Amino acid sequence: MFNASKYQPYHPIQLPDRTWPDKRIEHAPKWCAVDLRDGNQALLEPMNVAQKKRLFALLVKIGMKEIEVGFPSASQPDFDFVRALIEENMIPDDVTIQVLVQAREHLIARTYEALVGVKKAVVHVYNSTSIVQREQVFQQDKTGIKTMAVQGARWVKDYAARYPATHWEFEYSPESFTGTEHEYAVEVCNAVLNVWQPSATQRCIINLPATVEMTTPNVFADQVEYVIRHLNFREFVDVSIHTHNDRGCAVAAAELAIMAGADRIEGTLLGNGERTGNMDIVTMAMNLYSQGIDPELDLSDADEIIRVVTECTQLPISPRHPWFGELVYTAFSGSHQDAINKCLARRAENDPWQVAYLPIDPLDIGRDYQAVIRVNSQSGKGGAAFILQQEYGLNLPRYMQLALSPVVQAAAEKNGGEVKGENIYACLNEAFASTAHHIEHVRWDDQQGISAGVQIYGQRMLLQGKGNGPIDAFANALSQQLGCQIAVQSFDEHAIEKGNRASAAMYIAAKVNGQDCYGFARSENTLSGALAALLNAVMQKAAAPVAKASGE
Ligand code: KIV
Ligand code: ZN
Repeated sequence: MFNASKYQPYHPIQLPDRTWPDKRIEHAPKWCAVDLRDGNQALLEPMNVAQKKRLFALLVKIGMKEIEVGFPSASQPDFDFVRALIEENMIPDDVTIQVLVQAREHLIARTYEALVGVKKAVVHVYNSTSIVQREQVFQQDKTGIKTMAVQGARWVKDYAARYPATHWEFEYSPESFTGTEHEYAVEVCNAVLNVWQPSATQRCIINLPATVEMTTPNVFADQVEYVIRHLNFREFVDVSIHTHNDRGCAVAAAELAIMAGADRIEGTLLGNGERTGNMDIVTMAMNLYSQGIDPELDLSDADEIIRVVTECTQLPISPRHPWFGELVYTAFSGSHQDAINKCLARRAENDPWQVAYLPIDPLDIGRDYQAVIRVNSQSGKGGAAFILQQEYGLNLPRYMQLALSPVVQAAAEKNGGEVKGENIYACLNEAFASTAHHIEHVRWDDQQGISAGVQIYGQRMLLQGKGNGPIDAFANALSQQLGCQIAVQSFDEHAIEKGNRASAAMYIAAKVNGQDCYGFARSENTLSGALAALLNAVMQKAAAPVAKASGE
């Protein structure tokens, strides 16, 4: 059943002197959003007028200047929506609406009725030109199909003349361009342009749709370059590209088409559209942005864009969606987390962005660093440390990171999924800051040494000792009390800047009878906090004191 011989390869065009591979994209194209037309046509439940208004408002807000708002001759809700936009004065002066229509007179007439009173608009007319459509759907030869296009162009022009108060622009699409011989596509487009006679005051748009994406993006770029080379009135014509995503390359095809000389891109936010969707404007715009090119769209509030688009289309967004997916700035792998951590820590505020595994700064689209590093069983020590830093203001020293890592790993393996910040914090406390013992009061002076009231497993005792500083003195006192050897290896503390209550975090690495142990404490009092950290560490290895040993 699964039999590749059923299909034939696509025949690429011969364009050995192609120039596009050496070109670079240096500025944003003209964008035209087709969410409200192509996107809407592809929905299980097309948008109602309220949803269309909401999506239109979002498109305007992000800076879209050309918006295809519907197919008013084909659907009453689309007709009503166009009327609402015009009658409720919803179209800003710098935004042009566009409507789609087939090359049929009564549909063109109805389209102009929908547009009565609009200041300016693009009327987008199309007919199918591909071999398959000519032979199997329309049963017309090349001349018949070209005549259809020319007739459509005439009607579009003639009806426009009946509404002189509006500034009209015309757009023509040889629909199914990718299934059309490129020489013939040029012939049809030029025949349409001959009717419209584009000029400086009457610009036109030729839109080249990959109605179905049939081949690799380089072949599409060759086709676009070929058409552009042979198009009449080129200086007064915007060449527009409209790619669908059947092979998953709609964005790549659009990018190469811009390199091949196209001026304008039609697409949708997050790529909704027929079958696999339209070219995703978010992806292409973010691709530009990440190369230092202003996409001339404001995509800084990714979550609002996602909310509006998904609620209007009722289609979810993949967590792996380029640039905007929930997981695309997240690292679970330990080595990735370490690299991200190091790059972020070394980065000064105005440095160019150079962070391993993060092609852009997630803050630019309204994501915080909190989501960047998430911990599961694939993560190493860096991830848990990063999260404790971000969420709790704790800067764990390396020995503490190493000690915490297996504890978090065990938690991740036990629950099988993600370990959230609060669980990591709980791991830290359970393993290194037991509640079974406390420092109740403490006094230190250079002459007298340490005097600390402690409670260990419910027993209160007063520990006294001398040493080289309070921690050393306390270690000596503890070691006498518990009958073990205690050697402090490292001690670190830092203030915690969270909320308005100042507190400090203390970390200690020690050896009890030669065995490693680690302690952590948080306290508003740095002296008792340091002793608590040591007590926490020591009690992991030392036996509980016997009741009679000492009493306060
Ligand atoms: O995909 C397509 O060919 C279209 C045209 C109507 C432009 O949506
Ligand atoms: Zn389309």
